Amino acid sequence: TTYKVGYFVGSLSSTSVNRELAKALIRSAPQDLEFTELPIGNLPLYSPDHDADYPPEALALKDAIHQSQAILFVTPEYNRSIPGALKNAIDWASRPWGQNSFDHIPAAVIGASIGQIGTALAQQSLRAVLSFCNARQMTAPEAYIQYTPELFPGNGEVTDESTRAFLTDFMAGFRDHVVRVLTVLPRETR
Ligand code: FNR
Repeated sequence: TTYKVGYFVGSLSSTSVNRELAKALIRSAPQDLEFTELPIGNLPLYSPDHDADYPPEALALKDAIHQSQAILFVTPEYNRSIPGALKNAIDWASRPWGQNSFDHIPAAVIGASIGQIGTALAQQSLRAVLSFCNARQMTAPEAYIQYTPELFPGNGEVTDESTRAFLTDFMAGFRDHVVRVLTVLPRETR
């Protein structure tokens, strides 16, 4: 069996360090996880006015989440919270009322920052949002990554052995979490 993982990169930057982290995580992941990015940059701003007739970009997002068995959030910290673009995407996917795409979905959060706290506050903020959305979050291990270009030279490479091992461990933990949640809550029941 393979498990389809949809992943969000919370940044719209063309040089996003979190996209670099996402590449490294995919390289470090168990073979039975298959990854698809869920783009957020083309979404209009959410308004309940759209609930009766979602635009194609938002329908595509909800459909892509529905095709995923699990979700991984790889996000920067903006002003001690998550970027507006990511919150906007979550708001779209959580609606219309009664059609919350995150209900019971296995999920994990991780992020990289150039600063030392490595997105800790953004992750707390995101966890609160995902709790309300009723996602099944992996609570441990946690991962707060301080990005440097030396550590992540590109193409998902990680130069430091202990960081590589840490990311491998995180993704192995995520895989186990996904399998555990799906055993109790098979995808078809959501
Ligand atoms: C930041 N940055 C930042 N870093 C951090 O550790 N805590 C923070 O609260 C913030 N706040 C913040 C706000 C805004 C508007 C910007 C543009 C940046 C710095 C941030 O970590 C850095 O720009 C990363 O490179 C962002 O990740 P991406 O976009 O490269 O993936």
